[in-house]
Amino acid sequence: MSNYEFSPVMSGDKPCCQISKRAQICLGLGLLVVSLSVVVAVVLLKVRSPPELLEWHGHGTTSHFSEIVLGRCFTYTQIIRPELRDEDCQKIVDAFKSAFLSKNPCNITKEDYQPLIKLVTQTIPCNKTLFWSKSKDLVHQFTWVQREFFTLEDTLLGYMADDLTWCGDPSTSDLNYQSCPHWRTDCSNNPGSVFWKVISQKFAEAACGVVQVMLNGSLTEPFNKNSTFGSVEVFNLNPEKVHTVQAWVMDDIGKVSSDSCSGSSLNELKSIVRERKMAFICQDNYRPARFVQCVKNPEHLSCRSGI
Ligand SMILES: *[C@@H]1O[C@H](CO)[C@@H](O)[C@H](O)[C@H]1NC(C)=O
Ligand SMILES: *[C@@H]1O[C@H](CO)[C@@H](O)[C@H](O)[C@H]1NC(C)=O
Ligand SMILES: *[C@@H]1O[C@H](CO)[C@@H](O)[C@H](O)[C@H]1NC(C)=O
Ligand SMILES: *[C@@H]1O[C@H](CO)[C@@H](O)[C@H](O)[C@H]1NC(C)=O
Repeated sequence: MSNYEFSPVMSGDKPCCQISKRAQICLGLGLLVVSLSVVVAVVLLKVRSPPELLEWHGHGTTSHFSEIVLGRCFTYTQIIRPELRDEDCQKIVDAFKSAFLSKNPCNITKEDYQPLIKLVTQTIPCNKTLFWSKSKDLVHQFTWVQREFFTLEDTLLGYMADDLTWCGDPSTSDLNYQSCPHWRTDCSNNPGSVFWKVISQKFAEAACGVVQVMLNGSLTEPFNKNSTFGSVEVFNLNPEKVHTVQAWVMDDIGKVSSDSCSGSSLNELKSIVRERKMAFICQDNYRPARFVQCVKNPEHLSCRSGI
């Protein structure tokens, strides 16, 4: 009985038909709203659905690329090298991204990065430039301790981009997080390869005094002509500013230490350097860097005896 009070539907013919009319209107309106929202949703999806991106064989842009490079820029300019605290990080990141966004990532040129290069002016002191090839971990452990030395990754631009991948696509102004060109299987004129070529060339051109290069003595060819050092950096040193190139050839702890400095690979480097009118010095297992290796292997015989 109590149901009656809440169900006028059952109380007679008239209320029943009024309700059903109302219900019809409601149903009609409801359907209209539903179909309208479906149409709107479809249109929105169409507009927002990602455009067809070009597909490549390399990894896509590193997730959160923009946030990472902006964060690294602030970390570097505010904390690591506060003498650069007046650099405008937002402007630097915008110039960085403008170099490759909305462009075919196999058609990037050195000129694309010129606005970025012009924006950042960082002077490396004479005698403190340190190149490296196939010794990335050790060389960065070394400069972490010996703060006065600079590898490319210890400069602002190198620091911002280290270990990241990035590229755009001609059909969008966004980054391509799906894939980027692989330097060997797709093309060498990709945003990453061109960037490193441009900034390593610039880094070498600016060097002065004595320059160092840390090479890997555990390889049969510590000096490789195809490396960035062997193909870009050594040929962009300015002999009027650089008087000496000093090689530090580091063997892995525990491997038989070889006399790499007198090997054919280092001889090739020596002749390139001398031909370019600079002096050449080579040291096997440069002691300050050896000590850094020994921090991880304190018990090894070669570390106990000091070398
Ligand atoms: C490559 O870039 C150059 C200069 O930016 C442009 O003139 C040319 O049309 C581009 N080619 C392709 C295939 O995108
Ligand atoms: C660089 O090293 C040379 C010795 O190799 C030295 O004569 C010169 O004063 C050094 N320059 C600076 C700026 O320390
Ligand atoms: C030399 O190269 C090998 C192989 O790439 C690597 O495992 C080793 O850490 C490198 N040694 C140094 C001193 O960088
Ligand atoms: C350098 O590259 C060329 C061509 O890519 C290759 O033929 C040669 O073996 C490479 N040399 C070294 C020392 O890796």
